Amino acid sequence: MVATAASPREGWSSRSAFILAAIGAAVGLGNLWRFPTLAGENGGGAFVLFYIGCVFLLGLPLLLAEIFIGRAGQSDAVGSIRNVAAQSGVSTRWSLFGGLGALAAFLIVSFYSVVAGWVLYYVGVFGMDLLQALLAGDPFRGALQGQSQEVIAGRMGNLFASPGLLLTMHLLFMGATLFTVARGVSGGIEKAATWLMPAFFVLLVGITIYGAVVGDVGEAVAFLFTPDWSKLTPEVMNAALGQALFSLSLGVAGIITYGSYIQEGTKLGSTAAAIAIADTGVALLAGLMIFPIVFAVGLDPAAGPTLVFQTLPFAFEAMPAGSLIGFLFFILILVAAITSSISLLEVPTAWGVGEMGWSRHKSALIFGAGAFAIGVFCLLGYNVLADVRPLGFWSIFAETDILDTVDGFTGKIMLPLGALLASLFIGWRADRRLLETTTGLSNGMFMVWRFLLAWVCPLAVTIILVTGLFPSLL
Ligand code: PHE
Repeated sequence: MVATAASPREGWSSRSAFILAAIGAAVGLGNLWRFPTLAGENGGGAFVLFYIGCVFLLGLPLLLAEIFIGRAGQSDAVGSIRNVAAQSGVSTRWSLFGGLGALAAFLIVSFYSVVAGWVLYYVGVFGMDLLQALLAGDPFRGALQGQSQEVIAGRMGNLFASPGLLLTMHLLFMGATLFTVARGVSGGIEKAATWLMPAFFVLLVGITIYGAVVGDVGEAVAFLFTPDWSKLTPEVMNAALGQALFSLSLGVAGIITYGSYIQEGTKLGSTAAAIAIADTGVALLAGLMIFPIVFAVGLDPAAGPTLVFQTLPFAFEAMPAGSLIGFLFFILILVAAITSSISLLEVPTAWGVGEMGWSRHKSALIFGAGAFAIGVFCLLGYNVLADVRPLGFWSIFAETDILDTVDGFTGKIMLPLGALLASLFIGWRADRRLLETTTGLSNGMFMVWRFLLAWVCPLAVTIILVTGLFPSLL
């Protein structure tokens, strides 16, 4: 290929900058909201251990595959796959799955921003509460003093009933995401990650220690790590597999895009392992942070999606310094969510720059505004458009509102499909020498990696895909 006279491609300033940004992308609502929700709903131990298995047998090989495509392809998702395919002498039509990934990322960021908007609202609620506590000269009191459980739980219903409030939060969050992406890779995304991720870890460890001191860690550890294998039903395994993909940001070409900004000569295998370990560590710590608090006050771990928004605030009411910790807790989730939404918006943005020749500003604005608009429909689905079932003709989506439909369609179909194609492409079609030299894996590791990608990943992901489409098979 002839080098063009275009300005040099943007990139990370160092390997650690990439690792931080990629951890920022991976660690998000998936770790702090979805993982505890699923672990709680699915009975703890067996789900958690099976999940860890999925991360290392399925997630890690795929993570390395996506990093490889980006590093070797040196372009946006579509362009990177096309380049790798061309260098491997196979059809460049494989690049279609990059386009599928970019579309999925665009759709995911639309509702991700809405959910992050709820978090932002709770930051506001607990921020006001903390302010009142400070003004009352009692900064370490429990949160939301004197409010009944009905009032606290009702807050979420009130939020959902208010299109204006939901819209404001969504706008603020999407605006911040767009602003960062528009500023570019090293100037925006990397800066955000290098400031926010250390703050994130300090908060995470701090609140976990708090939970250990005031909460019931013993029960939480037993719940999270004692497997009752009878609870490991096909549905639970399916949920764990899907969660592993989602949590590691796989199947949406996000890691391909971030990987394309890595400098030459970076060791990819250990980099991928660091990201997978950090992401899983954060999910487990999130469990160890949340469940001791939930158990200490005798609440139900299986509360579902409202666990974080309704159940935990009850707990913060009853705990010492609950006001302060509640505020920090929601800041923590917000920080994790924004570094993830940035990575989601970056995928279509890079596509617009690379394939359409748009400026970064223009591309970010087009996709940011488009995702915002779809998000508006999602949030109206809780109030004005509550009866709308966008894919109601399709049995698996017959009962799902707008947000859950976008979530379900991307999560159950697009994401596994993207992961399946990525594993087939790298497992079977990519040039072996190119793989070896770019990844720098030892011989033995290389064999294991390629075997997992060629056989284990396609099989497991096909199971997720088929059972997601035809749940009656389970
Ligand atoms: N991994 C992110 C999370 O756990 C979500 C995400 C998915 C981000 C896909 C980017 C791409 O919240």
